[in-house]
Amino acid sequence: MAGPVEVGAFAAGRIAEVVSAKPEAVLGVATGSSPLETYRALAARRDAGLDLTRVSAFALDEYVGIAHDHPESYHAVVHREVVEPLGLDASRVRVPDGLADDLDAACEDYEAQIAAAGGVDLQLLGIGANGHIGFNEPTSSLSSRTRVKTLAPRTREDNARFFDSPDDVPMHCLTQGLGTILDARRALLVAQGASKAAAVAAIVEGPVSSMWPGSVLQLHRHATLVIDEAAASELRLAEYYRYTVEHRGTVQPGA
Ligand code: GLP
Repeated sequence: MAGPVEVGAFAAGRIAEVVSAKPEAVLGVATGSSPLETYRALAARRDAGLDLTRVSAFALDEYVGIAHDHPESYHAVVHREVVEPLGLDASRVRVPDGLADDLDAACEDYEAQIAAAGGVDLQLLGIGANGHIGFNEPTSSLSSRTRVKTLAPRTREDNARFFDSPDDVPMHCLTQGLGTILDARRALLVAQGASKAAAVAAIVEGPVSSMWPGSVLQLHRHATLVIDEAAASELRLAEYYRYTVEHRGTVQPGA
């Protein structure tokens, strides 16, 4: 894709296909800057008549210890950037509870809620510069479930821009595990910009490795990456991927 706007438009189209086929679809939603254009494009589709009112949503992650009404808590971010613009029913939207007295129990409960909803139909993902998805930092177990994690220093630095001071970035988080993400029926990862190029190349063309947590998507039977030119700049087989897209739809059965 040429740039972030095209990435968002394409990803929103994939989500719209899922919701059109199943109006009560369960979406996995991501925070961060990467999916913002996708939400924008989806909101435009909603204005054009796409019904999202019966959709349920599960956020990937949440910081530990910040109030739900703190503007940078993922409770607040998901409400502001996803629930409101898309017109979702807030009672069908869940975010892990980083304020629970018993965090381990909250994680187990989150897994149970996802299962009770019938599992996630489509999980939208961004990627961190160190290859994390959700908040599954390097060396996360490839079969991990929702749990407490300690944020990597690089992730805290990257996210410091959202807080008054770098010290205000929480040290811990709750995140769906890589195994939880793999259970989604579809995975859709969006990435833009040169700062993501190394991570994109590693997860697509490198080995499956907990050092690059997003590489676990190589094990998913229906994972799609939607990336712009800058994020694609370190892919060795970029020409081949373009070639396959050009020739998609030209299969001649029986030929
Ligand atoms: C954040 C989130 C991830 C997100 C990633 C990249 O910390 N927990 O879900 O994909 O880091 O963020 P951004 O899209 O802003 O680059």
